[in-house]
Amino acid sequence: MPEADNEGKNFYEGTPQKGKLFFLKGSNELDWGMKNRLSRIFNPKDGRTVMLAIDHGYFQGPTTGLERVDVSILPLVPEADTLMCTRGILRTVVPPSVTIPVVIRASGGPSILKELSNEEIAMDMEDCIRLGVCATAIQVFIGGEFESRSVVNMTRLVDAGLRYGIPTLAVTAVGKELVRNAQYFRLATRICAELGAQYVKTYYVEEGFETVTASCPVPIVIAGGKKRPELDALKMAYNAIRQGAAGVDMGRNIFQSDSPTGMMKAVNAIVHGNETPEKAFDLYQTIKNSGS
Ligand code: R5P
Repeated sequence: MPEADNEGKNFYEGTPQKGKLFFLKGSNELDWGMKNRLSRIFNPKDGRTVMLAIDHGYFQGPTTGLERVDVSILPLVPEADTLMCTRGILRTVVPPSVTIPVVIRASGGPSILKELSNEEIAMDMEDCIRLGVCATAIQVFIGGEFESRSVVNMTRLVDAGLRYGIPTLAVTAVGKELVRNAQYFRLATRICAELGAQYVKTYYVEEGFETVTASCPVPIVIAGGKKRPELDALKMAYNAIRQGAAGVDMGRNIFQSDSPTGMMKAVNAIVHGNETPEKAFDLYQTIKNSGS
């Protein structure tokens, strides 16, 4: 039987169905599932994200600040937009009732004792789906000893992700021997995007960072890098956002801070509240002095 055809039903014949451009750079032609996952990682209101990165153990073991993820990190999770971790930590420590999106570390192999660029894909897409993750992350070592392998690994993860609607975050890893400047990061981020990554993580550089974000056709988030004084880390986040970054994927500058909660809230104030580094630092200090 067809639907009951009541008098007065309104089909809005004169109103064309509207379509909207997707809010993230370079992502308009992606499929619905991938866009939906990206919309959970990046806030659709401002196109930005604060990712809490705690995946360091996959090659560093229990590094400072991550000795007990259950004790020191779980209280921070509600403050983050996204959690970036390994499947081991997700399954053993993170309660499944956590509803923020997860970006899963999907590469691995060498430890800090070996050549780091010698990585492989270390996770099946099937397990990513089982875990309900919103993106996979893989290291790409442009200029590194195993450059080609890391790039091809990334493309394999991109292919698998495209099959199931799971975005790939390409993480530009810089070997100790390489110079971290805008020229290098333009090269590295662009290669990742050209070969299919849906978004890219890179480091902030003082000179010319806006040329890195401008020449990369997909969103860029910045890693925090080594621990630095809190105000410096906040200035870096502020400058990166002003120069076109779509957010941060920060680890050590949060979990190695003497007030991780204070830093989470301060970084949030910069990324989503457009706060100045000085005001955000005041917030950090207030929270720190309150004992949090
Ligand atoms: C490398 O260990 C991971 O990709 C980290 O997630 C990334 O470096 C961000 O962490 P951090 O802010 O500590 O550099």
